[in-house]
Amino acid sequence: MSRGEYDKAQEAALFIRERARLEPRIGLVLGSGLGAFAEGLEEASPIPYGEIPHFPVSTAVGHSGRLVIGRSSGVTVAVMQGRVHFYEGYTLKEVVFPIRVLGGLGVRVLVLTNAAGGINRKLRARGLLLIRDHINLQGSNPLLGANEERFGPRFPDMTEAYSKELIALAQKVARRQRLRLFEGVYAAVHGPSYETPAEVRALARLGADVVGMSTVPEVIAANHLGLRVLGISCVTNMAAGISKQKISHDEVLEAGERVAKQFTAFLRALIPVLARGAR
Ligand code: HPA
Repeated sequence: MSRGEYDKAQEAALFIRERARLEPRIGLVLGSGLGAFAEGLEEASPIPYGEIPHFPVSTAVGHSGRLVIGRSSGVTVAVMQGRVHFYEGYTLKEVVFPIRVLGGLGVRVLVLTNAAGGINRKLRARGLLLIRDHINLQGSNPLLGANEERFGPRFPDMTEAYSKELIALAQKVARRQRLRLFEGVYAAVHGPSYETPAEVRALARLGADVVGMSTVPEVIAANHLGLRVLGISCVTNMAAGISKQKISHDEVLEAGERVAKQFTAFLRALIPVLARGAR
C-alpha cells in the first residue's frame, strides 16, 4: 500500500489530538441502532466525521457519524458513533481508515459492535453475542496491495483475531449483571440485500452463528496494527428463513434501540475492566 494511508492516518490523529486533549487507550465502534453509549460520556468532545481530515462519512440510516472522545467510568475512550460499510461503495481501505486513526491515537484495545441476524437457532433475537471467530465472505481484504510496515506485517496472524482474554473479561462482567452472552462465529457478507434462506442454510453449514455486513474488515486492520479486539453482535432479528418474518432495516434499528439501555449498562461496566486488562 502507498505511503499515503499512513500519513493520512497520522494527520487525522494529530487533528483529533488537538481537538480533544485526552489520550484514549480503548476504542469503541458502535453499530446500527447502538449509538446511545456515546451520549453518556463525561468531558465529551464530539467531532463530526466530516471535520476530520480524510475520514469517510457514513450514509447509512441509524449511523450518526461522529467520533466522541470522553470518559466512561473514569476511563478515557474514543467512541465511533457509526461506521461506514463496504456496501455503501467505499473501498475497504476507506472502511478501515478510522481504525488506523484510532491506532495512531494510542488505542490498544478495540471493541467493535454490530447488528447481526441470528442463524443458530439457540439464539433469540435481541440477545447479545461475543464474536469468537469470523468467516470473511466479503470477497476482499483491506490489506490488499503493497504492505505498509508501519501499520503491521505483510501476513498478520489471525489465530486469535478476537482476544480470548477480553472474551473472558466480558463474560465476567456479564455474569455480574446477570446478562446472558452467547459466543459464536460471525459471517461477514457484502450486502446490502439481506440473505436468501438458501444462503442462510449455507452459512449455517459453514459454521456461522450470526451474519452481518460489517466488522470483519475492521478486525483484520486492527489485528494488522496489533490491537486486541472484542467483537459484540446484537442479534436484532433471526436471519432469513430461520423465522418466517421478513427482515427490514427499521426492525433492525428498533431492536438495537430496544437493547440500548442494557447494552449501554454492560459497556459502562465493561470499560474499566478492559482498561485494567489493556495495560
Ligand atoms: N443479515 C445481515 N446483516 C444484518 C442482519 C441480517 O439478517 N440483521 C442485521 N444486520
